[in-house]
Amino acid sequence: MKHIFSNWLCHFLLLLATLDTSFVATLSNDADTTDTNLLLRVKSELVDPLGAMKNWSPTTHVCKWNGITCDVNQKHVIGLNLSGSGISGSISVELSNLISLQTLDLSSNSLNGSIPLELGSLKNLRTLQLYSNYLSGNIPKEIGNLKKLQVLRIGDNFLTGGIPPSIINLSELNVLGLGYCHLNGTIPVGIGNLKNLVSLDFQMNSLSGLIPKEIKGCEMLQNFAGSNNMFEGEIPSSIGSLKALRILNLANNSLSGPIPISLSYLSNLTYLNLLGNKLNGEIPYELNSLIQMQKLDLSSNNFSGSILVLNTKLKSLETLVLSDNFLTGKIPSSFCFKGSKLNQIFLANNIFSGKFPLELLNCSSIQQLDLSGNSFEGGIPSSIDKLQNLTDLVLNNNTFVGSLPREIGNISTLEGLFLFGNFLTGEIPVEIGRLKRLNTIYLYDNQMSGFIPRELTNCTSLSEIDFFGNHFTGHIPETIGKLKNLVLLHLRQNDLSGSIPPSLGYCKSLQVLALADNKLSGSIPHTFSYLSELFKITLYNNSFEGPIPHSLSSLKNLKIINFSHNKFSGSFFPLTSSNSLTLLDLTNNSFSGPIPSNLANSVNLHRLRLGYNNLTGTIPSEFGQLNDLNFFDLSFNSLTGEIPPQLSNSRKIEHILLSNNRLSGKIPNWLGIFQQLGELDLSYNNFTGKLPSEIGNCSNLLKLCLHNNNLSGEIPQEIGNLTSLNVFNIQSNSLNGHIPSTIQQCKKLYELRLSQNFLTGTIPFELGELDELQVILDLSKNLFTGEIPSSLGNLMKLERLNLSFNQLQGKVPTSLGKLTSLHVLNLSNNHLEGQIPSTFSGFPRSSFLNNNRLCGSPLVSCTGSTSQGKMQLSNTQVAVIIVAIVFTSTVICLVMLYIMLRIWCNWRKVSISNDADGGNVAMKKEESRWGCNDQKTRNGEYWNMNSFGFIPSPDKNNSVTTTCFFNIKMEAMENANK
Ligand SMILES: *[C@@H]1O[C@H](CO)[C@@H](O)[C@H](O)[C@H]1NC(C)=O
Ligand SMILES: *[C@@H]1O[C@H](CO)[C@@H](O)[C@H](O)[C@H]1NC(C)=O
Ligand SMILES: *[C@@H]1O[C@H](CO)[C@@H](O)[C@H](O)[C@H]1NC(C)=O
Repeated sequence: MKHIFSNWLCHFLLLLATLDTSFVATLSNDADTTDTNLLLRVKSELVDPLGAMKNWSPTTHVCKWNGITCDVNQKHVIGLNLSGSGISGSISVELSNLISLQTLDLSSNSLNGSIPLELGSLKNLRTLQLYSNYLSGNIPKEIGNLKKLQVLRIGDNFLTGGIPPSIINLSELNVLGLGYCHLNGTIPVGIGNLKNLVSLDFQMNSLSGLIPKEIKGCEMLQNFAGSNNMFEGEIPSSIGSLKALRILNLANNSLSGPIPISLSYLSNLTYLNLLGNKLNGEIPYELNSLIQMQKLDLSSNNFSGSILVLNTKLKSLETLVLSDNFLTGKIPSSFCFKGSKLNQIFLANNIFSGKFPLELLNCSSIQQLDLSGNSFEGGIPSSIDKLQNLTDLVLNNNTFVGSLPREIGNISTLEGLFLFGNFLTGEIPVEIGRLKRLNTIYLYDNQMSGFIPRELTNCTSLSEIDFFGNHFTGHIPETIGKLKNLVLLHLRQNDLSGSIPPSLGYCKSLQVLALADNKLSGSIPHTFSYLSELFKITLYNNSFEGPIPHSLSSLKNLKIINFSHNKFSGSFFPLTSSNSLTLLDLTNNSFSGPIPSNLANSVNLHRLRLGYNNLTGTIPSEFGQLNDLNFFDLSFNSLTGEIPPQLSNSRKIEHILLSNNRLSGKIPNWLGIFQQLGELDLSYNNFTGKLPSEIGNCSNLLKLCLHNNNLSGEIPQEIGNLTSLNVFNIQSNSLNGHIPSTIQQCKKLYELRLSQNFLTGTIPFELGELDELQVILDLSKNLFTGEIPSSLGNLMKLERLNLSFNQLQGKVPTSLGKLTSLHVLNLSNNHLEGQIPSTFSGFPRSSFLNNNRLCGSPLVSCTGSTSQGKMQLSNTQVAVIIVAIVFTSTVICLVMLYIMLRIWCNWRKVSISNDADGGNVAMKKEESRWGCNDQKTRNGEYWNMNSFGFIPSPDKNNSVTTTCFFNIKMEAMENANK
């Protein structure tokens, strides 16, 4: 009966509602009508894609609306909670009229706009939660009017400006959450008025200044997170009076000075995080009284002295992080105790020394042990297997010697073994094969030798193997294909031989394969076509041979291929079908056939090196699509045709190396648009026509080699615009005209070769301005006339000067005698006369021969010179002269050889500096970047407090190590990239 009645009433109300809502209002209570209308207006300003406010309609009683709480009499709305409802829009000013409201929770939505200052009139509000939205603007000072407020959480927004000082009026406040905003300014000094404050979160803002000593007024404070701000000065010792404190996180600020001893009074402290500050002095022994301490991170500071904190005192300790300080000495002998809970101990990048700290082996609970980047020496103890729960052993970058103990095989929990950068010798023990959970083994940069044991392939969890830079010999284990999880295999720079086992193709997760710098041979197995994840493969400096299997064209993720310095032959077409290539280096093989034009589909290609092969045909015009091309090397092949004009699209090009081909046509004038061009080598081809004046626009050009072509015309004036030019070589062409005087602006020239042309006129005086000239100034075999300018005596660094086979006349300027660096000089076959400068007497006669009237040592002395021509030579004299000539030419040959070597070395230097990632130049690792001292670990976000909920999340984010090891892995990936 009752049911029917209410049903009827319901229908009746519905009917009325459709007629006139205000009429319904008169039937129900006044107060909730007001609230109904208010809330409907609030709703109208919000977007509600998930329908959280679907039942907010006049036909339903407001107290039944989703997210609404009313008082016991169902008269007043006292709670509004739409947290995590996916709503957007702005917070309505109307809310401020819900004067009975006690709880307002709109957290975790997509609200924007600012926090209306009118909310300050909600005098009954006890909880205000707006965190995790997109709110901007300042925190209104009117918030300070909410005298009953207990919980204020508005963090994780875009709030700016300062913390309003009025906040200190909120004397009931338990929780103040302002983290993850853009707040600046200082902490209000009156903060100590908040006598009831339990949790205080300022982390991830831009707050600065001191942490006020008045904070000691917050007597109830349990959690204080001020990490990732710009706080400076000392940690106030008054913090020591916050007896209830459990969590103190001041990581990543600019705090300085020592740790106040008073912190040791915080007997309930379980988390102390001071990482990434500028704190110094010793770590106080007194901290040992913090017997509740579970996680202690003092890393990345300037602490010195030895370890004084003891696990035997800090019995609850689970994590100890002291990395990146200046700590010295040893682990105290009383550090560990039976029953220790210590899981993680990180001592990386300090100055600890001595033998492996055996004391730590007594803390058998240790899971992660990081001693990297110290000066530990001696062997890795065989008793390491006392750490029966060890998952990560991080001993890299020390000076450990000896071999890897076979007992390592007893630590069945081991997942990560990081021993790189030591002086370990000996073989990998076969017992390693028992480590079923091992996923990372980094032994690189050691002196280990012997075979890679087949047993290693029993570690089927392995995902990363890095043995770079050891002396491993023998074959890659045939059974490598068992490692189905293998992602990284880096065996570069060892003495491995034999061929690649076909089973490697079954490591289907493989992404990086680096086998370069070994003695491997044979051809690439067909099974490689299964390596669909592979994005990097480097095989350079081995003796691989044969054609590339066609099946490799199925590898669509390849980004980096370096097969240089092997004996591969046939077409490299199968390597060109990935459109992801960024680097392709096949230098120094025997590849033949034309260059596949589909290579141009890899539009991100920035390094293409195909030099020293037997490639034929033309340069594909499709290369015009390679807008990112930076290094373009097709030298030493048999390419024909012209440089395709489409190549002018590759505006980022820095190196164009096309020498020693059979290319023809003109040197394109569009080369002038290559602003980044540093190196242009078109030598030993059949280019004709002029040297285009536009080349003068390539203002970053360092090396311009156009020699041994058929260029004609004059050297353009614009050459003088190339003010960075180091090398200019146009010898063996058919150029004519004068040397432009603008050449004096090429101040950086250290090699200038203009020989074997038809250049005329005098040698410009201005050449003497090029005082960086060192390798050579070669003007020989031209038609130069006039005198040798005395200014050439300024070229103090010059080592070789060749002016031979010209029409030069007059005296050898005495200034030339100052060229003390000169060791090859050739002035022969000119019309020079007079006295040879005395400092030249050490040069052979051939340097001066065939000049009309040149005299003085090494030629005949000037006094007798008149009769010289008429002198009859005896047979013996002729013989002596012939012997001398043979002797001097031998010497010249040797000197030339020496000079060639020098030049070659110089070029090597230049090309090494150009060699980027993936090149085959061994680069020394930056050891300082190893370990945990990277920016990425400095964010202090592990085990800091959940910024909104104030729940410490020590386990959730599982610590430093993750970050730290992650870095190591990142580094290893980079390392493998070399
Ligand atoms: C705080 O940031 C605002 C901009 O958001 C700026 O105008 C103001 O000067 C800053 N105040 C301080 C104390 O740095
Ligand atoms: C420390 O913690 C204990 C146990 O939670 C608690 O009973 C005690 O009151 C705390 N000490 C202070 C000073 O708050
Ligand atoms: C090793 O880990 C196991 C399983 O988590 C645990 O039960 C055991 O107590 C740990 N051993 C030590 C010495 O902490």
